[in-house]
Amino acid sequence: MIRLNAMPMDFAPRRKILSHLPAYPSEPEMSEFESAFLCGALKTFRPQKILEIGVASGGTTAIILQTLEDIGAPYEMHSIDVAPNFWRNPKYPTGFLATLAKEKFFGNLRGTHKFHLGTILPQVIDEIGGVDFVILDTTHMLPGELLDFIAVLPYMPEGALVVLHDVSLHQFTNCEKADATGILFGAVTAEKFLNFQPDECVFRYPNIAALRVNKQTAANIENVFLSLILRWDYFPDEQIKIYRQLYRRFYSDALCEIFQEAVDMNGLHIWAAQQNRG
Ligand SMILES: C[S@@+](CC[C@H](N)C(=O)[O-])C[C@H]1O[C@@H](n2cnc3c(N)ncnc32)[C@H](O)[C@@H]1O
Repeated sequence: MIRLNAMPMDFAPRRKILSHLPAYPSEPEMSEFESAFLCGALKTFRPQKILEIGVASGGTTAIILQTLEDIGAPYEMHSIDVAPNFWRNPKYPTGFLATLAKEKFFGNLRGTHKFHLGTILPQVIDEIGGVDFVILDTTHMLPGELLDFIAVLPYMPEGALVVLHDVSLHQFTNCEKADATGILFGAVTAEKFLNFQPDECVFRYPNIAALRVNKQTAANIENVFLSLILRWDYFPDEQIKIYRQLYRRFYSDALCEIFQEAVDMNGLHIWAAQQNRG
């Protein structure tokens, strides 16, 4: 089911925390509208355990923490990024804006927040445990976010919310390959939230969306596995076996075979493309 324009928007947390942080070009990597959708979702669903996947400077991490502090209830938040250093400027550690906010602005948090840097979701999800709110914002190119959604689903109860960023990024100039989150949003069975953007924006269709896990989400997960049969844009060689190990614990042999076919076909294409370039 699609819920159009049903998510309350909250612009306040971003304005509040960013006024205390040094401005860094293009950070956070969400527009004001997108941050307001995320903050509105947090305030509406009031999660206890929040998982952010894809941190970059940590501007959005700081905005999420501000929202959780405003809610005023205890919380546990985890932020994962594969890169120990900020991808735009490796002089800074990943998440540096959130670290600054924690040290200089928040003081004692009402909840806890932990970074897991230089790692991927299947390596830390058992340590983190079940989560009821996920923000997924990583590569945007296939296989990208599909791998992490499949990995985190067994750790989410019914009613958990997943916010997906960049669900229409592939419509922007020079971003044609950035369709992983859009594909994921289409393939998943769930209650889906989309708030259209104001008329002055280039598109009304937003670049952020949310889905709420229900009984059908796991029952229909084969649609997400089958989406991995699409042509990948990169091949995460070292990571594949780590995802595969986790999938084998939670998914049927048939789904694991589909995954292996997707890996084999895409590995071959990407190998062939490399040979042609060489
Ligand atoms: C688009 S940026 C995140 C922007 C951030 N959410 C914000 O709103 O400012 C993507 C980040 O995802 C990280 N990333 C890419 N693949 C990842 C993966 N498989 N697991 C965790 N992080 C990943 C990159 O290192 C990068 O820092």
